[in-house]
Amino acid sequence: MAIEIIATGRAIPAKRLTNHDLASRLDTTDEWIRSHTGIGARHIAEEGVAASDLALEAAWNALAMAAEQRGVTKETLVQSLDLIILGSTSPDYYGVPSTACIVQDKLGVRNAAALDICAACSGFIYGLELAAGFLALNASRKRALVIGAEILSRIADWNDRGTAVLFGDGAGAVLIEQTEPSGGGRRGLLRSMLRADGSGAESLIIRQGGSRNPYHGTGDERPPRVEMDGRAVYNFAVKALIGTIETLLAGENLTIHDVARIIPHQANARIVQAAAKRLKIPESKFFLNIEEYANTSAASIPIALDELNRAGGLQPGDLIMTIGFGGGLTYGGNLIVW
Ligand code: UT7
Repeated sequence: MAIEIIATGRAIPAKRLTNHDLASRLDTTDEWIRSHTGIGARHIAEEGVAASDLALEAAWNALAMAAEQRGVTKETLVQSLDLIILGSTSPDYYGVPSTACIVQDKLGVRNAAALDICAACSGFIYGLELAAGFLALNASRKRALVIGAEILSRIADWNDRGTAVLFGDGAGAVLIEQTEPSGGGRRGLLRSMLRADGSGAESLIIRQGGSRNPYHGTGDERPPRVEMDGRAVYNFAVKALIGTIETLLAGENLTIHDVARIIPHQANARIVQAAAKRLKIPESKFFLNIEEYANTSAASIPIALDELNRAGGLQPGDLIMTIGFGGGLTYGGNLIVW
């Protein structure tokens, strides 16, 4: 039995905001943003568009890809879903209902479980492993959608140049399937590593709006907005990237030469450069598209997977590694034979 990614999809809002656009309303420059992060632009959802809308578009794109491969309609394929799992830091609603349930309804899926997971920028990494485990527990479960969807522009503090320049909106989705052994070597998800360090919870936080600090919209309280201790998260992220690569490789007795591509969470190109330098891995092994999309949290890895996949950058048999890190703090990765 193997759990394979059989299709990918993404949804990127058309509206594009460059660093120069931001510099006209915030005390920042294109030079600062590029040199500190590698970001050149971000895409921003129109008013009225929610995370579930982007998630739905990404999901249909993945289903359409799989349907074309299989010679079936995507409407038929959608009914074979057993699970929809969605990672988001900016869900349609906080707490209830889950954004996954909204996607389930709009897809018209009748017999699937649906839930959101809150693992911030590691949402896709966590979601893939959890969905794979859900399928593997029961041979009659065949397919699941794993989605990362974010409208971070709604929870960014547009008065804080330290965070506003970092984030973008978008969604990515993968369709995974439980397949029978074919005798052709190992396929699909080989191994994941999932970790958490809640002692760092305060360093990336939306303080208002939950049961700890209910938001009443009155008085001196600040509205729910992302706050980040950039330095602390940066140091954590470099360590998380290095530790995840080392642990995943050691677990399978592999070296970095066995890995075709590493798809890291797109938080800051400098984090990737620092980890690559420490591990003596060529930077070209890491796929980066942060220049165009900025940090889309849980969506960044499935967006990158879809972009690479559609550009022919992932060949059957390629060993790839995805790595996430972010609020919680959470981190980890997946090792996948494409
Ligand atoms: O996806 C979740 C995971 N998130 C991350 O991985 C993010 C991790 N952190 C980072 O990527 C970096 O820490 C940042 C990109 C957020 C910040 O870069 P930094 O090199 O750590 O900058 P800093 O916060 O130490 O600030 C350096 C200076 C400060 O000015 P002073 O105090 O030295 O005068 C800031 O006020 O840069 C200033 N600054 C800016 N200047 C122009 C901060 N943001 C900006 C800005 N434009 N947008």
